[in-house]
Formats: sequence, structure tokens, C-alpha cells
Amino acid sequence: MIQVHPELNDDRILRLFEKGIHGQWGEDAIAWGQATDVPARVRRGLALTLTPVYLGEQTAMMGIATVIPLLLRGGETEAVLYLSSMQLDEARHFRNLHRLYELFEEDPLPARRLPEMWRYHARLLHSRDPLDWVWGILISDLFARRFYGAVRDIDPDGLLGALARRTLQDEARHQAFSDRFLENRIPQLSPERRAGMLGLRDDLFRSMDGLAGRLADAATDAGIDTSSLLDGLWLDTERWVERLGIASTHTTQRPTATRSASAVPRPS
Ligand SMILES: [Fe+2]
Ligand SMILES: [Fe+2]
Repeated sequence: MIQVHPELNDDRILRLFEKGIHGQWGEDAIAWGQATDVPARVRRGLALTLTPVYLGEQTAMMGIATVIPLLLRGGETEAVLYLSSMQLDEARHFRNLHRLYELFEEDPLPARRLPEMWRYHARLLHSRDPLDWVWGILISDLFARRFYGAVRDIDPDGLLGALARRTLQDEARHQAFSDRFLENRIPQLSPERRAGMLGLRDDLFRSMDGLAGRLADAATDAGIDTSSLLDGLWLDTERWVERLGIASTHTTQRPTATRSASAVPRPS
């Protein structure tokens, strides 16, 4: 699996790896003491709404750990270097949210309340093909961009704004990697394989639609409008489907959650 002296030719991915190294930041980049300025209602709403994102950071760590051996076997050393920097990003995102829960003195929702969260996790990690995994992680990163953008807008000058802005810089690098990785591979894919990618996008979106339904009230308390977030996310995925040449966007229809999810009640 490991070559003694592999070639490193993909300069664009190597440049992203270099950016990944220089883009690292630690807990001292954030004024955590500002957590006390966040109103109790926003803290509680955000604690619930963040639950799938919190799990998603761990899903990303697991996914990277799974895909690295597959890429090494395929001789894709540049991608392995880049993903090693992304692993540190995801670990930081997870640790930051863990810290936020501690500072807010709140807990995430218990897993049984959000079955779609596990469905999403399982679907993302289902395939053993790096291409599917990078496509799934791109969709997750598009969601993260919308979500952290909404968190930034709750509290642009405080803790949430600062945390979201730094996280969004990491997400921009993740997206650039997925773009580079996928753009050369998709033109060679069969129509069935492309249909499979659309199927993955639809399954992930369906889970997010279910989660948005369950978390709509909690998100409103935090100052986040889940329906406009999902509208924006759908347009983002459609744009990428077209841009990468997976399909013409005119042929795709927006999926919705299979069952209408019961909302998580507001805490009394
Ligand atoms: Fe992340
Ligand atoms: Fe990410």
C-alpha cells in the first residue's frame, strides 16, 4: 500500500495542503469568555440545533480515517497529504463544539430523538469508493457553510461570529479540495455511476430535510431559519451537480423527508 518514493505531481492539491498547514489555529484564536453574552434562549436552541453538526464533525473524522488507506492503495499521495490537514480541521471543529456545550452548560439531544442523524452518518460512510465519499463530504461541507454562515449572523461581533468565521475558512479549503478531486474523475463515469452520485445527494438531502423539520423550533429560538437554510443548500447542490457535470440540473427534483418528522418540543 505504501510506496517508498511516490510521485507528488498534483500541484493544486499540494498547494491546498500547504494552505491547510498555514491555516491551522488553536483555542487561543477565540475569546471564549464572551460565551456569557449569549442569551439563555439562544444557547438552549443552539445546543439542540447543533446536535447533528456535532456528530457530523465526528463523522468527518471517521470518514477521513477510512478513506486515507483507500487512497494510499490507489497511489493518490497528494490527496492523502491534504486529507491529513483536513483531519486536524475536523478534530478542531469537534473540540470547539464540545467546548461550546461546556460553556453553555447544555447537552446535545439524545441520539434516539434524531434518527435521521444516524441515517445520514450511515449513508455517508456506506461506500468504499473514495469518489462517493468525497462527493458526500462536499455535500456535508456545503451544509456546514450554510449552517456556520447562519451561526455567524446570530452574533456577528461576539463568540459565535468569531467561531463561525474561522470555521468557514477551513470549510472553504475543504470545498476546494473536493472540487479538484472530483472535476477530473466525473467526465469518465458511466451514466449509472453518475445516477448513483445523484442518489447519494438525494438520500443525504432527505435526511437533512427530516432533521430540519425536527429542529425547526429549536433553530428559531437560536435565530436560525431552517427552511431558508435548506432552500439555499438545495440550490448549492444543484449548482455543483451542474458544474461537475454529474447531470443537467433540469432533470433533478428536490427530495423531501420520507416521513414527516415530529418536531423536538421546546424545553419548558
Ligand atoms: Fe468540520
Ligand atoms: Fe469540513
